[in-house]
Amino acid sequence: MNIVLGITGGIAAYKTPELVRRLRERGADVQIVMTASAEEFVTPTSLQAVSGRPIRTNLWDKEAEASMSHIELARWADLVLIAPATAEIMARLAGGGAPDLLTTLCLATEAPIAIAPAMNRVMWANPAVQANRDMLEQRGMRILGPDVGSQACGEEGAGRMLDPDDIAAAVCDPEFAGAVVDGPLAGKTVLVTAGPTREPIDPVRYITNRSSGKMGYAIASAAHAKGARVILVSGPVMLQEPNGVEVQRVETAEEMHAATHASIVDVDIFIAAAAVADYRPADRATQKIKKTKDTMSLELVRSPDILASVAALGDVPFTVGFAAETERVRDYALGKLENKKLDMIVANRVGSDCGFDYDDNSVEVLWAGGERAFPQMAKTELAHELMDLIVERFTSTRGPDTQPALSIVSIKD
Ligand SMILES: Cc1cc2nc3c(=O)[nH]c(=O)nc-3n(C[C@H](O)[C@H](O)[C@H](O)COP(=O)(O)O)c2cc1C
Repeated sequence: MNIVLGITGGIAAYKTPELVRRLRERGADVQIVMTASAEEFVTPTSLQAVSGRPIRTNLWDKEAEASMSHIELARWADLVLIAPATAEIMARLAGGGAPDLLTTLCLATEAPIAIAPAMNRVMWANPAVQANRDMLEQRGMRILGPDVGSQACGEEGAGRMLDPDDIAAAVCDPEFAGAVVDGPLAGKTVLVTAGPTREPIDPVRYITNRSSGKMGYAIASAAHAKGARVILVSGPVMLQEPNGVEVQRVETAEEMHAATHASIVDVDIFIAAAAVADYRPADRATQKIKKTKDTMSLELVRSPDILASVAALGDVPFTVGFAAETERVRDYALGKLENKKLDMIVANRVGSDCGFDYDDNSVEVLWAGGERAFPQMAKTELAHELMDLIVERFTSTRGPDTQPALSIVSIKD
């Protein structure tokens, strides 16, 4: 695979030698094109050493043009990957200008283009940046991330460049360029949350639950197979990332809440499949707590309710809840369906012999005026059946011409 790697002037450019190595490990030939600003953050010398190719920086480099013109470079590429992608390059790409080598090449290539945005969280949330992001995506560019977490500027939020290894894994996936564009969810964006959350007590201990993330990951995969663009906000799990899905990793309920809200404006279908901790320690000790007393108490406070906060956004989404219960599963699920005014709920029994961490699951789906039971089957298979039902209910209640958002809330796996 021939990859033109465009590097632009963001602080995350310091991670690009690592990205080049990860791409080359997966068999890619990497030709680097840097913007002038990128050279302020990482040297062409380092990048030339790791890529094994001379770096292209200037549209007006006569020698480089003579050996491989920018048009030949555009033809050579199987993929143009821009990482990190600054707010500025996104604006230049959205505007269709070609003032430098990288943008000229992007206009001249027939290869797919993927960008991994990286910037301060406030920049990322800026409506101008979001509008450019939407436009680029509508034109078929693949947007990788950004990730949520601590930023170089000292802030926390959405805007970190995805991990180099995750970018390399995503773009080198054979399905990447030929992403599914057909199916009942084509043109829709689905956001799935999955896995448990970890709520720190001190630097070495945390509260969590038994969720493996398997159900949520399978749902993300099934939604992708139906043609949707899928964002997976994942708590800490030991699972392989689903093909063609953009994964954002978080740890705590608060981070999951922030990541969900950072992406929710673009989302048609919100699938909150995570087992979010309902409570977290009121204080996080900065040093390891020593065993000096015979007993100790932890004060817990409520974690943010992701469902409630999404429901409060204004739009009335088609909402499907998942209820993981150890007893009176149907009763509790029906209560949740009514209290939270959901359109559908999936009742899921969890315990020592089923549910969490098992590869199989059986569920009962309830909605006003109907129900359907799904017998024990592999979670991967169940995910497809559930997505079929969701699409069916969504279409029949909202109709094909409407464009409502659809939420699936709290799948506990
Ligand atoms: C120290 C520093 C760090 C920066 N980090 C980022 C960043 O992470 N993301 C971003 O979009 N812009 C960042 N900028 C601003 C860009 O460098 C600036 O918009 C530049 O014009 C981008 O040009 P380019 O897209 O052609 O590389 C940073 C600027 C400075 C001075």
